[in-house]
Amino acid sequence: MIVKGILGVLLAIGASYYFVGPILLNDKPHEVPKLVEKNWGPAGVKEDSSIRPFKIDIPKDVIVDLQKRLSNTRELTPPLENTGWTYGISGASLTKILDHWRNKYDWYKRQELLNKYPQFLTRIQGLDIHYIHAKPAKTVSNGKTLRVLPLLIVHGWPGSVVEFQKIIPMLTTPRPDADFVFEVIAPSLPGYGFSQGAVRPGLGHAQIGVIFKNLMTRLGFDKFYTQGGDWGSAVTSDIAILFPERVLGSHLNMCWVSGGQAMFWQVLGSFFPSLVVDAKYASKMYPMSQHWSRTIEESGYFHLQATKPDTVGVGLNNSPAGLAAYILEKFSTWTNPEYRFREDGDLLDKYTLDELLDNVMIYWVTNSITTSVRLYAESFSAENRNKFDHLQSYVPTACAVFPHEILYISEKIAKLRFKNLTQFNHLPRGGHFAAFEEPKILSDDLWTFVKNLENP
Ligand SMILES: *[C@@H]1O[C@H](CO)[C@@H](O)[C@H](O)[C@H]1NC(C)=O
Repeated sequence: MIVKGILGVLLAIGASYYFVGPILLNDKPHEVPKLVEKNWGPAGVKEDSSIRPFKIDIPKDVIVDLQKRLSNTRELTPPLENTGWTYGISGASLTKILDHWRNKYDWYKRQELLNKYPQFLTRIQGLDIHYIHAKPAKTVSNGKTLRVLPLLIVHGWPGSVVEFQKIIPMLTTPRPDADFVFEVIAPSLPGYGFSQGAVRPGLGHAQIGVIFKNLMTRLGFDKFYTQGGDWGSAVTSDIAILFPERVLGSHLNMCWVSGGQAMFWQVLGSFFPSLVVDAKYASKMYPMSQHWSRTIEESGYFHLQATKPDTVGVGLNNSPAGLAAYILEKFSTWTNPEYRFREDGDLLDKYTLDELLDNVMIYWVTNSITTSVRLYAESFSAENRNKFDHLQSYVPTACAVFPHEILYISEKIAKLRFKNLTQFNHLPRGGHFAAFEEPKILSDDLWTFVKNLENP
């Protein structure tokens, strides 16, 4: 027992030094780095603080060209027998999806639905940023005037603001047990969909945090709440860390902590799980070897995008079949890892094919898959990693933990980074795309978090 203990501590220290360096037990409040507010746009672009109404309106020739390409798709390779989606998306499933896309999916009808909420463009640090701005329909409930709380909600990859179509009204509609309601600002990440991408290197998640902070300033919001999953979780955490005086509360699905301390506790926990995680959730972290091999199995895309994003982008930008395969595989496996064993990837268990294709279309019609995957390269450059990943947040924070989320950290590990973690809920259903898949559960968790902060 003693030998095992000493071995565990040594291994944990060794691993955290090896991966992160000698900042292991330094728990002193960090200094917040000052970021230069760089211009990311094309040379000579003028600053322009106007706010321009925007509607999605894709030229007809783009849709005609898409139809042609879909018709010219070469025969897809059938999957190996009884392998489901474990070799990647099944050619048999994709053939059916492409048939629907070509013959049943009606872009003009879908475009109208996607224009349901008011959208705008405004130029920040040289880039045109696209965002949905949805105000509450009414601000009086039971004769009482409600407080309207601004909420910045941020998507990730390979998603888009399409993921928020269902959750927005759940946030902007008053609830009988709350004396506030949300006004939702949902931007597209730079280089995603209708937001312009950078022309020079360096725009990682922290720098996007600066752009979105400036967006909120432009809209007149001094203080606001944030919500984010995937890259949105990183971006909104950055805003809380860099500009704590601006953020009333930070609600995250997919909480993540990197750095020496997290590594230390994770490795130590493989010897003494009870030091790190409640017994009930220990199997979500241990045995570590099992989780690491799963992570390696699912993260090939990540390494590629973090190193050679432009190469990956070429094929995807030219083939709608390739783009749909690349994106939809994630909507199967990241919604539930068991789906990959099913013949059809069980895509339609939680989504309609039309709404899945809406999200693929956002990448297709804007030709933005390459600029979207560059975010991995920018965020994992040595410079950006060393500058931000160890920083702690002191803003009130909630982690909404969905059972099929692709990464798991325990509450103890979350507290290493989120120093004011006021809510940490294990939710009953759902995976990585929580807003898209389980909007009711996610919005309930957010309302509870904010209610506890607003009415302590
Ligand atoms: C956490 O945030 C709440 C709300 O701002 C505040 O009242 C509380 O003192 C904070 N707690 C810590 C430990 O900072």
